[in-house]
Amino acid sequence: MNATAAMPLRTPPSLPGARPLVGVLPQLQANPLEVMERATLQYGPVTHLPLPSMEGYVLGHPSLVNHVLVTNAKNYVKQTRGYDMLRMVLGNGLVTSDGAFWKRQRRIAQPAFHRERLAGFGEVMTRAASEMVDGWELGKPFDFAAEMMRCTLRVVGETLLSADVTSQADHVGQALTVALEHLIHRTLHPLSAPEWVPTPTNLRFKRALEKLDRVVLGLISERRQGGGPKNDLLAMLMESRDPETGEGMTDAQLRDEVMTIFLAGHETTANNLAWTMVLLGRSPEVERKMMAEAEGVLGGAAPGMEHVHRLPYAMAVIKESLRLYPPVWSLGRRVLEDERVEGYLLPKDALVFICPWAIHRLPEFWSDPLAFDPDRWKTEDPRRAHGSYLPFSMGQRKCIGDTFATVEAQLILTTILQKVHVSLVPGQTFEPEPVITLRPRGGVQVVATRR
Ligand code: HEM
Repeated sequence: MNATAAMPLRTPPSLPGARPLVGVLPQLQANPLEVMERATLQYGPVTHLPLPSMEGYVLGHPSLVNHVLVTNAKNYVKQTRGYDMLRMVLGNGLVTSDGAFWKRQRRIAQPAFHRERLAGFGEVMTRAASEMVDGWELGKPFDFAAEMMRCTLRVVGETLLSADVTSQADHVGQALTVALEHLIHRTLHPLSAPEWVPTPTNLRFKRALEKLDRVVLGLISERRQGGGPKNDLLAMLMESRDPETGEGMTDAQLRDEVMTIFLAGHETTANNLAWTMVLLGRSPEVERKMMAEAEGVLGGAAPGMEHVHRLPYAMAVIKESLRLYPPVWSLGRRVLEDERVEGYLLPKDALVFICPWAIHRLPEFWSDPLAFDPDRWKTEDPRRAHGSYLPFSMGQRKCIGDTFATVEAQLILTTILQKVHVSLVPGQTFEPEPVITLRPRGGVQVVATRR
């Protein structure tokens, strides 16, 4: 497929089951992941989603994905209901802003993620994992997913913000869960009471947001008073000056950027680690291979950044887990101007959805798509097109923390498995819960035992 305007106009099929006035909204409300998957795998490459007072299209082919996210990304913006909801928590930070403002902010933040900077973070990642495992009570069940949230929160705090947030991890975790559930509910229920109405759920959300704000504003004010390091991401943000006005960022803008890094920088990686443990728990052979590789390279020593490229199987495990359980399971954009893509008209103001979860399961691009098979990453499969694998999105809005995240996951996982054996408590179903990110519903109960 290639994107041309010259083809005859094609009409995309509509997702069956639309109802008058509400379209397919009730289906989306019931199970948005299932709707996106069905549209992509059964009706693609383009499926029309009739929605109340707007048009939606699910794009289910790598070339369309590539077109929207890379080739003509300027025609597809983040002015959607989903991002509006996210703005209630993240404000106008790197994830949610657009245009020239976003570009400037990205330029300021980018150096914090350069390879040389990451090199210094490996030690923090391994130490955080090691101390976490030392705190586990062997033989007693616990929620692995919650532990990963704490660990990755600590890592993002120490590395990018030079802050120790371990004592706050539990209430950050709870507040974040309340906030994410509220946001997805509001995204899918346009008629719910406006935010200012003091319903119990709105009040719960308000309290959660206040908690998150207290932590983030606390970090900023501590830094303003106490000096602190001069070279972390927070320092870069605080020292940046607008090239035209010479002014620094306002506290409000700083709050939005720090909140964005704080949340985007830990929740996704924690989910990736939780899903990886689910997959490993069900595939002892993969775990054995991973351990054999670690033993060969490290011989029992702690892993560091210098080992990352010598542990390709561990990296393949992470990649494969991100394929099957992409923490960002759906991406949405609004069309700025009418455009014909592959013969389909994407009209101005329509919403387009790309579902990495479903794209990663397209049988034309992935052999045995549902199998957890890290070995598939050993070779370049010629069928794998650009746009068929996008856990970090693509193009200019690609995740700024992609390398940070994969290295972190690799180091944390290797450290855990070197120290203990982790087994899944039997009888769990591990249903994916598509809040803003893809979480294992109810967590992942495990038992750690001595290796
Ligand atoms: C496995 C872990 C991660 C996954 C799957 C992931 C995925 C993504 C995806 C899909 C996007 C694009 C979102 C969109 O278009 O709305 C994104 C953006 C972003 N991510 Fe990540 N991410 C991960 C880890 C991280 C980490 C560790 C950080 C920071 C430390 C981070 C910071 C960001 C930021 C700031 C953006 C916005 C980038 C921009 O638009 O300029 N992410 N991430």
